Amino acid sequence: MQSAAIALRSKGGRIGFVPTMGYLHEGHMSLIEAAREKAGKVVVSIFVNPIQFGPNEDYERYPHDFDKDRSACEKADVDCVFYPAGDEMYPRNFSTFINEETYSKRLCGISRPNHFRGVLTVVGKLFNIVRPDFAVFGQKDAQQVAVIRKMVDDLHFPVEIIVVPTVREEDGLAMSSRNHYLSRHQREDAAVISQALFRAKEMVGSGIVNTDRVEAEVSNILQTKRRVRVIYVSIVDLRTMEARREIVPGESLLAVAAWVDEIRLIDNILL
Ligand code: PAJ
Repeated sequence: MQSAAIALRSKGGRIGFVPTMGYLHEGHMSLIEAAREKAGKVVVSIFVNPIQFGPNEDYERYPHDFDKDRSACEKADVDCVFYPAGDEMYPRNFSTFINEETYSKRLCGISRPNHFRGVLTVVGKLFNIVRPDFAVFGQKDAQQVAVIRKMVDDLHFPVEIIVVPTVREEDGLAMSSRNHYLSRHQREDAAVISQALFRAKEMVGSGIVNTDRVEAEVSNILQTKRRVRVIYVSIVDLRTMEARREIVPGESLLAVAAWVDEIRLIDNILL
C-alpha cells in the first residue's frame, strides 16, 4: 500500500483517504464523495479493527460484505481499496499503541475504556501506510473526530482532517453499520434518539441556554421507549468533549449514547 500510494501520488494530485470498517452505507459514501471532490486520488480502507472493540462487544459478529463494498467503491470512482488482513496489521509481537489521555476519557471513553486507544492506533498506522494529504471522517462519531484531531495536532501528522455531516434515514435515525442488528420493533424505538436531538435543537432555537434543562428533556424523551436505556446524554464542547454548563451556539454539541436492548447506538447534534 505504501508503494501504491507513492505511485498514485506521482500520477499527480492530492491523496484523499477514507478509513472505514466496511459494510458501506450512504454515510460512508458521502465521505467518499467529499474526498472525490477534493482529491486527485481517493483511497478507502476497509478493516474491522479488533483492538477498538471491548471484550464483550460485537467484533465477532460485525457485519461484512467485501464484494458489495468493492463494487460500491468502484462505482464511486475510488482509486484504491486497502483491505488488509488482521495479522498483517497486528502481527503477534505488536506492542505499540497511541493513547490520547484527555478528550478520549470522556463520554464513550467511560463505558468503552480502550476504544479510542484502538481507534487512534489504527488511524495512526493507516496514516503512515497511506500517507494521505487529507482524511475524511463523519460527524456521526463526533468524539472520534475530536480525538483524531488532537492526535494529529499533538503528534504532528501532516494530514488535514475533513468532517462530513451525519447522513440519516428518512425518519432521522443516523445511518450506521450497526443498524443492521436492529429488529423491526427495535428499529422503531431507535428513531426516538434523533427525535430527542431535534427537540433539543428546537429548545435551543427558542432561546434556552441552560444545558441541564435540555439534557433533562432529552433523557425524558428517550425514556418513553421501552427498549431504550440511556448511557449518557451530555452537552459538551465540540472540540474537547468537555461538559458545558451553558450552550454556546456553534460550539456546543449534544451527544447521546443509548442501548436499544443489547445494541449500542450513538448520535449527536450541533446546537
Ligand atoms: P466506521 O464505523 O465504518 O465509519 C467510517 C467513517 O464513516 C467514520 O468516519 C464515521 O464517522 C463515518 N460515518 C459512519 N456513519 C455515518 C453517517 N451516518 N453519516 C456520516 N458519516 C458516517 O469509524 C470507524 O469506522 C472506525 O472507528 C475507523 C475510523 C475506520 C477506525 O477503525
